[in-house]
Amino acid sequence: MNEFETIINDIINNKTVLEMKKYRQHFSTDCFNHCYDVAYNCYKAAKKLKLDYVSITRAAMLHDLFLYDWRIKGDRKGLHAFTHGKCACDNASKLFDLNEKEMDMIKKHMWPLTIIPPKSIEGFILTGMDKYCASKEMLKYVFR
Ligand SMILES: [Fe+2]
Ligand SMILES: [Fe+2]
Repeated sequence: MNEFETIINDIINNKTVLEMKKYRQHFSTDCFNHCYDVAYNCYKAAKKLKLDYVSITRAAMLHDLFLYDWRIKGDRKGLHAFTHGKCACDNASKLFDLNEKEMDMIKKHMWPLTIIPPKSIEGFILTGMDKYCASKEMLKYVFR
């Protein structure tokens, strides 16, 4: 197992986290694979920049742990884009012992929609990587 896999090993083998495979996130990518891709890119960037690569990698793997199909409104309150960061953080906190920085990154990964920015550089990187990976998923779908 390499370092990246070791950091998220407990997360990617968790029964609830694996449920993300059931939900489509962007285009043909499921939530689990989207989070995995964001986590890997965050890991690489944070290593290169000598930042807290463990916290950003773990937070990235959990950042979309909302566990519902966001295309179906149901009885959820508020708009998914604005609310799912908090929802993912609440779900992840019940399963893992998260530090303050990880919780902040998950909650605010939709910045600037969250208005209040992330408290850490790692949080800004996660918001950027999330958008970068979502764009890749869209392009992969459009040019398949
Ligand atoms: Fe998200
Ligand atoms: Fe995301």
